[in-house]
Amino acid sequence: MYPYAEGLWAARNQWYVAGWSNEVTRTPMERWLLDEPVVFYRKEDGRIVALHGRCPHRQYPLVKGNVIGDSLECSYHGFTFGTDGACTRIPTQANIPSSCRIAAYPVAERWNWFWIWMGDPALADEALIPDHDALKLTAPGWLAVQAATHLLKTRHQLMHENLCDLSHLTFLHPGIIGVDDVAATEFEVQGEGLWFRDERAMYNQEPTGFFSDILGYHKPIDRLMSMEFFLPCLHLAAEVFLAHEKRDGEPGRELGSYRVHHAVTPATQNETHYFVAYSRDFAIDDPRVTEIINGAFAAVLQQDVDAVEALEAMLQKSGDRQFKDFLAKGDITSVKVRRSMEALIRSEQIPVANLTA
Ligand code: FES
Ligand SMILES: [Fe+2]
Repeated sequence: MYPYAEGLWAARNQWYVAGWSNEVTRTPMERWLLDEPVVFYRKEDGRIVALHGRCPHRQYPLVKGNVIGDSLECSYHGFTFGTDGACTRIPTQANIPSSCRIAAYPVAERWNWFWIWMGDPALADEALIPDHDALKLTAPGWLAVQAATHLLKTRHQLMHENLCDLSHLTFLHPGIIGVDDVAATEFEVQGEGLWFRDERAMYNQEPTGFFSDILGYHKPIDRLMSMEFFLPCLHLAAEVFLAHEKRDGEPGRELGSYRVHHAVTPATQNETHYFVAYSRDFAIDDPRVTEIINGAFAAVLQQDVDAVEALEAMLQKSGDRQFKDFLAKGDITSVKVRRSMEALIRSEQIPVANLTA
């Protein structure tokens, strides 16, 4: 499936951000993930349960069910399922075949969001989830903000590649976070497999109104910008702002730093969840700065949403063929990531057709 090879769509044996912790209560909540309905609710002890969301009896949506104790009762004919997905009650018969069950998925809560593993549960090692202290979501001295939730009308691949090519900032986000030098500056890429990082440094930049406002600094700045991707879900954009006032060859003083956390999770083959948070280490007690960043990022994110949805519409109108991209130097991170994602998906050998069966 473009831009991956024919038949390749998403990796399953991986952790994905499934949503925000405050979305899950004792009332069932449904979310489509990896082309499946999944129903979430909290047990009496507060921990999250994730079960396949379609009743095996007559395919009724289990999100309409009732949570009783820690179990979920289908509200059509009363079949009841435990937290491990096994059926524990069929009201019209005493015998409960062991084959009457639904999938139960491992879940891990980190900071304000929860992650799900929809592949082989035996492989669900929580140590594979990126360290939230290192991400600066839970690190001391940083303020982390739950920023946005979108259900994108696009395949997930297009958002990954949007986030892997920062040259688009210059043209899609001018005047807010994009300036000419973002596209024009050389960058370095490192990483392989499930982790990539590219970085660029831009010196002596006139701060846009946005940066002046949040940093409270109106003279030229140096911007150290990087983008990391923890495949297959989480992108971390980082910026460090320095005063452009080198003395004795030393960099200028640091004015502040922020991170933008982009979680991109496949919903269906043409829909993608997009959960965005950001964190910063400056003016963390100033709600005015939070308000400015919220407003600016909402506008930037909408520009990205519009762009990837326009791409998806173009692909679908064109008959969703395998196009050959005319790739440029600035696409190097996207190309590396594309190859890595393809290899990851291919290693699981789950063709698209089987995912929808
Ligand atoms: S459809 Fe769920 S019990 Fe019948
Ligand atoms: Fe963007």
